[in-house]
Amino acid sequence: MISDEQIQARVRELGAQISADYEGKTVLLVAVLRGAAIFLADLSRAMTVPVELDFMAVSSYGSSTKSSGVVRILKDLDEQIEGRHVLVVEDILDTGLTLKYLLKNLASRKPASLEVVTLLNKEGKQRVPISCKYSGFSVPDEFVVGYGLDFAERYRNLPYIGVLRPSAYQD
Ligand code: PRP
Repeated sequence: MISDEQIQARVRELGAQISADYEGKTVLLVAVLRGAAIFLADLSRAMTVPVELDFMAVSSYGSSTKSSGVVRILKDLDEQIEGRHVLVVEDILDTGLTLKYLLKNLASRKPASLEVVTLLNKEGKQRVPISCKYSGFSVPDEFVVGYGLDFAERYRNLPYIGVLRPSAYQD
């Protein structure tokens, strides 16, 4: 769906745009494990302002994961974020429920600013409004894998974004 070259070009653009917006500031990039790790690695190297990195891991309660909107923090930030410029790095924005919870949680810690960059944004899938300042690509509602995105933990290391063949996940 999106080639290695297209991703790298767009990541460089995002890095330049974000660096211009945060000129004179230090940005704390907060990646949401695990999918965002690959994007974080490339985005952070495309940025020219001082960057610091931190990580969160979350999971949803029960099997109704994506619909409950209840998110459990498995790994919290190591850093205090009060007064800092926080940019949350996500690989994909789908229903928006994960980010809604995360942004509310992070905002309560009083950062100087709080924004989101997502590589992929699923068109028409958001169930809650999310203010996402930076977005790499809008994608249709298909099962996308690669560049951090998995199917049963596989395919995260593909350098491109592909669409999983239905036969790969249907009996
Ligand atoms: C994905 C993605 C977001 C979330 C988006 O993570 O990285 O965190 O789902 O979905 P939402 O907008 O519907 O809340 P996933 O749970 O697949 O974990 P992973 O990053 O470890 O693969």
